[in-house]
Amino acid sequence: MRILTDDVLSKEGREVELAGWVSGRRDHGKIIFIDLRDHKGVVQLVFTPKNKDLYSLADTLRSEWVIRVRGKATARPTGMENADLSTGKLEIPVEKLEVITKAKTPPFSIDTDGREVSEDIRMEYRYLDLRRARMQKNLRDRHKIIKYMRDYLSDKGFVEIETPILGKSTPEGARDYLVPSRLQAGTFYALPQSPQQYKQLLMVAGVERYFQIARCFRDEDTRGDRQPEFTQLDIEMSFIDQEEVMNLVEDLYLGLVKKLYPNKKVKLDKNGRIPHMPYSEAMSKYNSDKPDVRENKNDPDELAFLFVVDFPAFEWKESEKRWDAVHHPFTQPKVKDAKEFWEIFKKDPTSMVAKQYDFVLNGYEIGGGSIRIHDPELLAAVFEAMGNDPKDIKDKFGHMLRAFEYGVPPHGGIAPGIDRFVMLMEGEPNIREVIAFPKTGDGRDLLMNAPSAVSEAQLKDLHIKIKE
Ligand code: AMO
Repeated sequence: MRILTDDVLSKEGREVELAGWVSGRRDHGKIIFIDLRDHKGVVQLVFTPKNKDLYSLADTLRSEWVIRVRGKATARPTGMENADLSTGKLEIPVEKLEVITKAKTPPFSIDTDGREVSEDIRMEYRYLDLRRARMQKNLRDRHKIIKYMRDYLSDKGFVEIETPILGKSTPEGARDYLVPSRLQAGTFYALPQSPQQYKQLLMVAGVERYFQIARCFRDEDTRGDRQPEFTQLDIEMSFIDQEEVMNLVEDLYLGLVKKLYPNKKVKLDKNGRIPHMPYSEAMSKYNSDKPDVRENKNDPDELAFLFVVDFPAFEWKESEKRWDAVHHPFTQPKVKDAKEFWEIFKKDPTSMVAKQYDFVLNGYEIGGGSIRIHDPELLAAVFEAMGNDPKDIKDKFGHMLRAFEYGVPPHGGIAPGIDRFVMLMEGEPNIREVIAFPKTGDGRDLLMNAPSAVSEAQLKDLHIKIKE
């Protein structure tokens, strides 16, 4: 049976079978050394001219061929150990070799960290790029982070529930990706910018504690910390206040760092807690709503978490000449009811504070959330204040207002972005490095070549004509 390279150490003196990729080859006189790579690491294979057929087959081996070998795990001769390799004390003098598949010469080298290779080529050959140790580590560490989140929340009584990808436009402030409907000619689904409305409806449905590793889609300009599709740890809870949501997130993240990244130094306040900073202080002291409060910004292992609180509820949107919600319209302003809302809004909309909190790490916004409005009258008032007329409100949000007429619990939540957090924990410069198949800056998938043209027949099915 095949074992993995990291099991070789415990098998010294025994015959083992290994399989993987040819990662490197060195010839020393008549001896051929091959590095065999699997997802755990590398082990050295040795071929000598003693067995002629085996030796001549070994001589044909090239980088990235897939092979299977048998041989005895043998201590290397004294002085020949390789301290850089975890298996460097041993080698496998091969007795049996099978070539499973051959490989073309890869367009770039795989045993480096890949930073020297142009990103377009890396994306085009992503399956090769992902073979490198750095990318394997990123993928596997991302998995560990997500598993920790899932386990933590499950233990606390949260249920993971999937919400639709084909849905209705929900206002998170970006442009929607639209999907034309075949059966309802001329209408469109919107891909979710977040599961915001569905998770609130789950609170109306009595779920009380929901989470989801949720894929979100936003048609906005891509940047180092932004992808058109990305992943959130989406959370919503009933009968809670702002402090309880932040405490939960704090406990989750500090526990996660302690367990998975014990070498990181977390900067906390004097009570050992993640500090909270009002938005006004962040702006006046740092001129940023996501300040980097690390002591030493050159230290890659320092983590400075922060909750920014007390955001203004509204901001003026000059392009549309209207007031817009700073977070989203479901966020609760700090007012008693719709009457008090209008009093303050009419006087000075900028003076209204929202029950919104952003989660910040080393100057990046790694999460955002709020306590939601559960009073349907107040919710309608906010929609109206944002410039929606009654018909708009009914078309866009009628389903929420109606649901809220059937007994809605007070609720709130948060959605930490997973890609940005993994990027920061892995010390990567952008989130593309921690996403298996990311898009380029101009939103393309160079591997699959998407987006791409579709056939006339498909367009006809969808009742769509392309204007030349
Ligand atoms: P918000 O829009 O603030 O809130 O998003 C939450 C978090 O998601 C991450 N994020 C992104 N990551 C990568 N690429 C992007 N394009 C991108 N956009 C956002 C950020 C951000 O902090 N529904 C609300 C949450 C709530 O109120 O519960 C929401 O989506 O880390």
